[in-house]
Amino acid sequence: PSVAVIVVAAGSGTRLGLGQPKAFVSLAGRPILSRSLDAIFALDDETQVVVVVPADRVEQAGDIVAQVAGAAVGYATVVVGGESRQASVEAGLAALAESVDIVLVHDAARALTPTAQFASVIDEVRSAGRGAVPGLPVSDTIKRTDGFGLALATVDRSELSAVQTPQGFPRQQLQRAYEFAADEFTDDAALVAAAGFEVAIIHGDPLAFKITTAWDLRRAEQELAPAPE
Ligand code: C5P
Repeated sequence: PSVAVIVVAAGSGTRLGLGQPKAFVSLAGRPILSRSLDAIFALDDETQVVVVVPADRVEQAGDIVAQVAGAAVGYATVVVGGESRQASVEAGLAALAESVDIVLVHDAARALTPTAQFASVIDEVRSAGRGAVPGLPVSDTIKRTDGFGLALATVDRSELSAVQTPQGFPRQQLQRAYEFAADEFTDDAALVAAAGFEVAIIHGDPLAFKITTAWDLRRAEQELAPAPE
C-alpha cells in the first residue's frame, strides 16, 4: 500500500479514571480502539494499519483488529508503544511497509472520526506534497494566565485552530522530523514544523473530538445511540 495509518492507543487513560488503558474501554459495547478502526478500514485506498498499544495488550489488540478488518482491503500490524505519545508514534514508524509514502497518525481516542476526514487528509497530502492536519475554529475566549490564577492578555482567537487527528505527512518529512526531534511535542504537526516543513490546516469535524474525560465518553455514547422515534 502507499498509505499507512498509525493508530496510537498506548496511553494509560488516567484522566478517564476507569483503571484501564483508554483505547480498551467500552464505548457502546465495543472497545474505543475498535470504534476508531471502523472508519479506517472503510477507506477505499489499500492501507497499512499500524496499531500501537501497551505491551500487555498486544494479543487483545490483534483480536480487535481481526474483528473489524474482516474482508477489508489492507492489512494491519500491532506494535508495542512507549512512555510518551511521541515514543509510541516512533514505534509505529518503525513498522511501516517499504511501499508506504503517505503516513497518517491518528489518536485512537478520537473514536468517532469519520472516514471522510481520513480521505481529506490523504487527498491534501497527496496533492500538495506537504503535511495536512484537520482543525476547528476556537469558540471560547482564550486567556493567557500568570500561572497563579490571574488572567493576563486575551489571545486573538481568529488566529487559533484547535487541531485534531488524523495528521498526515509525506513519509520522508515525518521520518526526518522524528530523526531530528530534540524535544517532546504534543502533536506530530508541531514536530514536523519544528523540522522546517510546512503543514496546512484543513477543515476538521466536531465528531473527531478526543475522548479524554468521563464526560467525553458519555457524549460519544450519545452520538452512537439510535435516534429517538
Ligand atoms: O493522552 P492523550 O489523550 O493526549 O493521548 C492521545 C493518544 O495518544 C491516545 O490515543 C493515546 O492512547 C495515545 N498515547 C500513546 N502512547 C502514550 C501516550 C498516549 O499511544 N504513551
